[in-house]
Amino acid sequence: QDVAQETSTGGLPGDARIDALLAAAHERYRDHDEGVVADYIPILSTANPAWFGLSLTELNGSMHSLGDSEIEFSIQSISKAFVFALACDARGHRDVHDRIGVNNTGLPFNSVVAIELNDGSPMNPMVNAGAIATTALLPGETAAEIWESVLTGLSRFAGRQLDVDEEVYRSESATNQRNRAIARLLESYDRLEGDPLEIVDVYTRQCAVSVTASDLAVMGATLASGGVNPVTGLRVVSAEAARDTLTVLASCGMYERSGEWLFEIGLPAKSGVSGGIVAIVPGKGALGAFSPPLDTAGTSIRGQRSCAYLSRALGLNLF
Ligand code: DON
Repeated sequence: QDVAQETSTGGLPGDARIDALLAAAHERYRDHDEGVVADYIPILSTANPAWFGLSLTELNGSMHSLGDSEIEFSIQSISKAFVFALACDARGHRDVHDRIGVNNTGLPFNSVVAIELNDGSPMNPMVNAGAIATTALLPGETAAEIWESVLTGLSRFAGRQLDVDEEVYRSESATNQRNRAIARLLESYDRLEGDPLEIVDVYTRQCAVSVTASDLAVMGATLASGGVNPVTGLRVVSAEAARDTLTVLASCGMYERSGEWLFEIGLPAKSGVSGGIVAIVPGKGALGAFSPPLDTAGTSIRGQRSCAYLSRALGLNLF
């Protein structure tokens, strides 16, 4: 509340001001010790709770980074946003709407009840059910080809070749019975294309892709720019696919807390259980944050506080 809001009406303020505000956010929240590091995927519990990185990418390609912004962590649910953008690009607006859905469940990301309460609908691409069904929509005749589409697409968003953290992939594969159950349930309602277990395997790999907070800022900025990566200058998805993704991020990106997030921060965003957050400022750029301690909905606490601070200080709230 003690942050003076920028009065600028156009782009972001100058580089020095952005760097100063990132540093102020980092200093303000680095000693906060709230939140719990995820452990339902066993390997994630080994993360250092003190890690804290912030990054901002502008649409002119200029990058600002601070703290642990180059530490690699698994992208987890943040992949859902970019895989959905790839699905929109491949299948189009009406098809993803009809096959997946775009409404919030009001329930946690791995809810089985949400499927049952909605006649077998995967509901939206940001919860696990919808994300698994979305992965199945990517181009490819086999699971291996679909995986190739996922990894190539995520790498284009980041502007560099990304890879899977094999330890995370193995750890989640050994403990993802719930996602396999969700995929079987979708299959029973005829709401999943392809072999359920093969698709869950691709989804599990997708969640284990390693990124940094800086990568997230570049990936988000690609959506902010209407689908063109501002660092490589290459188009990754159509402008319509980028817009459709931002709308679903606004309504569903923070699961059952999406309303609160939008009320406080006013930006489309996505979180992941390893502690990453991407928040997108359409037409301006994106923030990437990373810090492992989470709230009860699975969102990084330092990350969300930093996004709130920076949204106010930089005047980013869309509303
Ligand atoms: O499927 C899962 O449960 C994980 N791979 C991803 C969940 C996740 O990141 C939830 N977000 N906060």
